[in-house]
Amino acid sequence: MGNDKAANFVIERSEKPVSSDERVALLENPAFGRIFTDHMATIRYTEGRGWHEAKIQPRTAFELAPQTRVLHYAQEIFEGMKAYRLPDGGATLFRPEANARRLQNSARRLAMPSLPEQLFLESVRELVRADRDWIPTAEGSALYLRPFMIATEGALGMNPSSEYLYCVLASPVGSYFKGGSSAVTLWISENYTRAAPGGTGDAKCGGNYAASLAAQAEAIREGCDQVVFLDAVERRWVEELGVMNVFFVFDDDSIQTPPLTGTILPGITRDSLIVLARDLGLTVREEPYAIDQWQADAQSGKLREAFACGTAAVVTSIGKVKGRQRAFEIGNAETGPVTERLKTALLEVQQGRVEDRNSWLDRVF
Ligand code: PLP
Ligand code: COI
Repeated sequence: MGNDKAANFVIERSEKPVSSDERVALLENPAFGRIFTDHMATIRYTEGRGWHEAKIQPRTAFELAPQTRVLHYAQEIFEGMKAYRLPDGGATLFRPEANARRLQNSARRLAMPSLPEQLFLESVRELVRADRDWIPTAEGSALYLRPFMIATEGALGMNPSSEYLYCVLASPVGSYFKGGSSAVTLWISENYTRAAPGGTGDAKCGGNYAASLAAQAEAIREGCDQVVFLDAVERRWVEELGVMNVFFVFDDDSIQTPPLTGTILPGITRDSLIVLARDLGLTVREEPYAIDQWQADAQSGKLREAFACGTAAVVTSIGKVKGRQRAFEIGNAETGPVTERLKTALLEVQQGRVEDRNSWLDRVF
């Protein structure tokens, strides 16, 4: 397996799919990550044998022995991507090969086997085809895809697993934040950091998210929507949010985002926005930005806008920032014009409403 034939997957269709009436009702207000489609993709890996048993099958529970490694040592990685409805009724993925490569990078960091890009692409394409009726059509909605890989060997010695399960789930989603497209308030995490040099910050592994939950809970207690993490060494440089990258927009229409130095996740939305911003004639810098500078620039008016970006939350403007010793607003705490322009530019490409100049779309049907 792993060659470029499109025939690696056995398709076992569900005998009890959700009825079309029920599906339509579920799609009306899907929220984020609560509803799942009829099928899932799975592939198994065994040391010595490699990847095998690629299937699209009815979505069902896994049977795992209590000593399964992932349950103890969190040897797990995942991806997040979306399938979008096209104006002609078809559907497309957005830069799926970038997700395939990021999963391979995460696998390397977590000492897991590399899933060949072709198998990854087929797994998501075939799942979207099997569950094509689940792609929502409402503005701002999409079919969120969650590829992930877990260590399935049942043993407690501290070694990489000899067996793995790769799986893809599909979940129709609306907007990630309950407030829809209004600006969010960030909490600056001073008690907790997300990633240190040499750690797993640039891998998409479940452990990073488990470790961010206490900081996120603190943010919620403080009346904020999301946590923003500073670097672990100097506690000075703005790195990223719990589930998003961050951008700053200045009064000369230049934009800036923290560089990829190994402690932040290389977001595919981040990368796409850098390309789109340059296409729009904006100057883009990938340079560190200090939290004190952020506050000073917001207060002097040099910083006009700030926004967060990611697959789940798309582009979300940042209205206010709070910490133990500080609180400041950005602009008039509403979505600014540059944020709006970039968000529109991104959505237009993803939804197939403008020419795909960078060949980012991967049409599924
Ligand atoms: N940073 C973190 C920690 C994330 O979880 C995500 C979401 O995937 C991102 C950034 C944005 O990445 P992407 O744009 O590839 O979704
Ligand atoms: C994504 O945008 O795919 C994310 O990673 C967000 C998710 C952790 C909720």
